[in-house]
Amino acid sequence: MLRIFLFYLAVLFASFDLALSVGLNVTVIGARDGKTRFECWALSAPFVSSEQFGIVGTETAALGDVTNITYNVIPAGFDSGFHNAPTIQWTIVLNGLAVVTLQDNSSVSVTASMGEMGLLFFTDTKDVSPDGHRSVYPGITETIFLQIPTKDAATPEHHVVYDNAPCAGPEFVGLRQWATG
Ligand SMILES: *[C@@H]1O[C@H](CO)[C@@H](O)[C@H](O)[C@H]1NC(C)=O
Ligand SMILES: *[C@@H]1O[C@H](CO)[C@@H](O)[C@H](O)[C@H]1NC(C)=O
Ligand SMILES: *[C@@H]1O[C@H](CO)[C@@H](O)[C@H](O)[C@H]1NC(C)=O
Repeated sequence: MLRIFLFYLAVLFASFDLALSVGLNVTVIGARDGKTRFECWALSAPFVSSEQFGIVGTETAALGDVTNITYNVIPAGFDSGFHNAPTIQWTIVLNGLAVVTLQDNSSVSVTASMGEMGLLFFTDTKDVSPDGHRSVYPGITETIFLQIPTKDAATPEHHVVYDNAPCAGPEFVGLRQWATG
């Protein structure tokens, strides 16, 4: 009897956990109809309580397999001009300031600096967006970022939060609620 009760309790907690599960939101430099545009994705891999020794009980989300990371240092004032993502990849800004703009929509830009919004995902490769996007670096210091291609150019499972706009403030509140233990 106790055993059955405990089983139901476990099932109840498992479904409770699932209902509360929240994934990381990330701004995507994506493409549609041959043009680059911004999207906001919620990754399907949920944050879970880590079992890793040293950070047990803290929030962790798996972002998938990656390959061939590069460390990039860009001088202040550099202008990339329009270009494509070389492959499907993450970019993480470690220092400085990058502003990404689009060719056909001057009303929106993405400003990336270190912090919660410093992680971007790029999918606007040449085959899906011939012109790509432009990145300028208006800060007064060097901008440093990591480029991290996904293994086999895979795209993480996700659902689309905004299909023509970057993630904004509300997409990062979930992280802040974990700021204090
Ligand atoms: C890794 O990236 C560097 C720099 O972009 C490139 O020269 C090299 O060929 C890449 N290596 C592999 C195995 O893709
Ligand atoms: C330009 O971007 C804004 C904000 O992301 C979006 O609301 C608008 O629909 C876009 N315009 C076009 C023509 O795609
Ligand atoms: C992702 O965005 C949704 C709102 O669009 C928000 O409810 C959720 O908490 C966000 N996730 C994180 C980890 O901040």
